[in-house]
Amino acid sequence: MNARLVDLLSQKVTRNAPCDLDRCERCYLKEICQYDDIDTKIDPIVDFKQCSVTFTPTEDQKKVIDFNEGEARVIAVAGSGKTSVLVNRMLKLAREGHPSRILAITFTEKGVCEICDKLSKFMHEDDNFAIDSFKIATFNGFCYDFVRRNYKACSFSEPPKLIEESEKTKVLAKILDEKPKIYGLNYMKPYMQVGKYSKGAIPLFKEICAIIKRKKASTAEDIYNALVDSENTQILHLLPSITEKNHLQKIGPIIDCYHAYQDYLKENDLVEYDDQVNLMLKALDENDDLHKKIKRDV
Ligand SMILES: Nc1ncnc2c1ncn2[C@@H]1O[C@H](COP(=O)(O)OP(=O)(O)OP(=O)(O)O)[C@@H](O)[C@H]1O
Ligand SMILES: [Mg+2]
Repeated sequence: MNARLVDLLSQKVTRNAPCDLDRCERCYLKEICQYDDIDTKIDPIVDFKQCSVTFTPTEDQKKVIDFNEGEARVIAVAGSGKTSVLVNRMLKLAREGHPSRILAITFTEKGVCEICDKLSKFMHEDDNFAIDSFKIATFNGFCYDFVRRNYKACSFSEPPKLIEESEKTKVLAKILDEKPKIYGLNYMKPYMQVGKYSKGAIPLFKEICAIIKRKKASTAEDIYNALVDSENTQILHLLPSITEKNHLQKIGPIIDCYHAYQDYLKENDLVEYDDQVNLMLKALDENDDLHKKIKRDV
């Protein structure tokens, strides 16, 4: 260990027992010492309550905040006030009625935090609702919650859980080991995860599963076309040419392993991250009552 660090630690410096060297600026341990002087007081410059934000919407922003009927699609450049306008519209609607019927949905957790952050800035002291009265979620978070609450309509026997990446790896390793081999997959170094062109059997098969699922391919022909369309060189090497006799039968082992993995998910009430949105859409498509309910509740 660095001798200077040993020196520093040996002094047993803590918040309550600061070191006895009285001049930090000249201390030879200064570069590595993280100690911050507890006697140093930082005076707050402003009181939080005084820190109100003035947002005076432009004419275009006002139109978005106030429109009353139908739907609106707003296209605006980065930093032009989209989130501020959205939040002000949410507050306007909440003041008129039921904040719990307002759903704000976004792609990222960061987006959710920004909405909550701005809500806390723009809310008035006399507003009779709290930030958690609103439904603010990511697409995936909202759909996951829906699938868990309506698991029967989504064909699960209990509320499903998200499969962890480590479990997915283990399950695929087992399936690929037990099922007939897929010609061309790298079983010698199954976990290898290097670059685009030299993936081992497991990471490459994960990509295959993702492509099939994304394309919602179910027949052998759909699956073959989805994999060809992926233009992934390593995957293309696994496929027989379309001119080959019985080319669809030759991708049987790929389909077999894919189905085995889907069966595992179903039997264990598991979902993948990417499944959540599709599961919810499928349940809504198939179930009118659920569709009406979600429209009513949100
Ligand atoms: N009419 C306005 N009056 C005062 N400040 C405004 C107005 N419109 C936007 N701003 C300010 O501009 C900044 C960017 O706003 P905001 O974060 O809402 O934009 P955005 O379009 O959501 O940005 P991004 O594209 O990064 O998500 C914020 O500081 C916001 O307070
Ligand atoms: Mg924004």
